[in-house]
Amino acid sequence: MSTDMRRVLVAGATGYLGRFVAKEFNSRGYFVRAMARSPEGLEPIRDSLDEAFQAEITRPETLDGACDGMDVVFSSVGITKQKGKLTFKDVDYQGNKNLLEVAQRAGVRKFIYVSVFRGPSLLHLDIVKAHEDFVSVLRDSGLSHTVIRPTGFFSDMGEYMKMAKKGRVYLFGNGNNRINPIHGADLAEVCVDAVENDGREIDVGGPEVLTHRAIARLALQAVGKPGRITSVPIWMMQGFASVTRIFNRHQGELLAFMTEAMTADAVAPQVGTRLLADYFRELAVEGLEGEARNKRWPT
Ligand SMILES: NC(=O)c1ccc[n+]([C@@H]2O[C@H](COP(=O)([O-])OP(=O)(O)OC[C@H]3O[C@@H](n4cnc5c(N)ncnc54)[C@H](OP(=O)(O)O)[C@@H]3O)[C@@H](O)[C@H]2O)c1
Repeated sequence: MSTDMRRVLVAGATGYLGRFVAKEFNSRGYFVRAMARSPEGLEPIRDSLDEAFQAEITRPETLDGACDGMDVVFSSVGITKQKGKLTFKDVDYQGNKNLLEVAQRAGVRKFIYVSVFRGPSLLHLDIVKAHEDFVSVLRDSGLSHTVIRPTGFFSDMGEYMKMAKKGRVYLFGNGNNRINPIHGADLAEVCVDAVENDGREIDVGGPEVLTHRAIARLALQAVGKPGRITSVPIWMMQGFASVTRIFNRHQGELLAFMTEAMTADAVAPQVGTRLLADYFRELAVEGLEGEARNKRWPT
């Protein structure tokens, strides 16, 4: 670790990736301040934190002081499954922009941000556009920064386990597209290495390249009971996403994003050691309630 970049603000520390990142910074000897809208959400990682800062990233007036004394800001704040009136633009774009402005005023020296693999080619999707519009602002800010563009997280692959436990796994399309999903702990190492890294934009995925069909099989094996894999035609998913979008743009966009994710290859440079089969076995042992916990908290 550089001797002069020791203090980090982690925004998103109540989420799947953010909690691993906070723990990784802590284990490398950084002073870690975590920002959250609900401090109780930080309880499970309190031993890895030096300070908590309560703020709502979409309300700039609450961010005063959040970055004071910090050398580095890491943000994995973004809407994934959260429900509410706020849009991807409100949170992923404007919220992170609010944080960047506060970071610049406080003299922060590096900003590390998590976008999405293949982001620049998926700008037709609201969620990706919001991420990448923020990336443009970050690029133009003049602040030293790194943008991490990961493939799917193991937490998202947990959706396969939920279906496997019900005995049927649905695939969008034929399931032959490939992805190398990544565990939060493996990705956290890349995020923390980025403090020292000169790389501005890093594509990253996990160690194993798997088809979606192979992931479905791994999930069924992990639950250890017979189950079926059913392919839903792509045209049907695209139509469903378009219709949903008319009534509920947010949900329609999430469906469109999932369809895109399952029907194109998403293979990024491979890092890490953690295997999806092991993760699924842990989820199978913990049961569905454990799965929900696992999405949010490290064990
Ligand atoms: N999951 C994937 O497979 C994947 C793949 C590539 C990129 N990404 C991107 O990586 C980032 C982190 O993903 P993740 O899976 O760790 O997400 P996550 O578990 O849902 O965590 C998201 C974080 O953002 C915060 N957040 C969400 N809405 C907010 C709001 N309105 N105001 C303030 N904070 C808010 C959450 O806080 P609360 O706990 O208060 O809700 C949480 O700390 C996201 O931007 C996502 O798009 C994810």
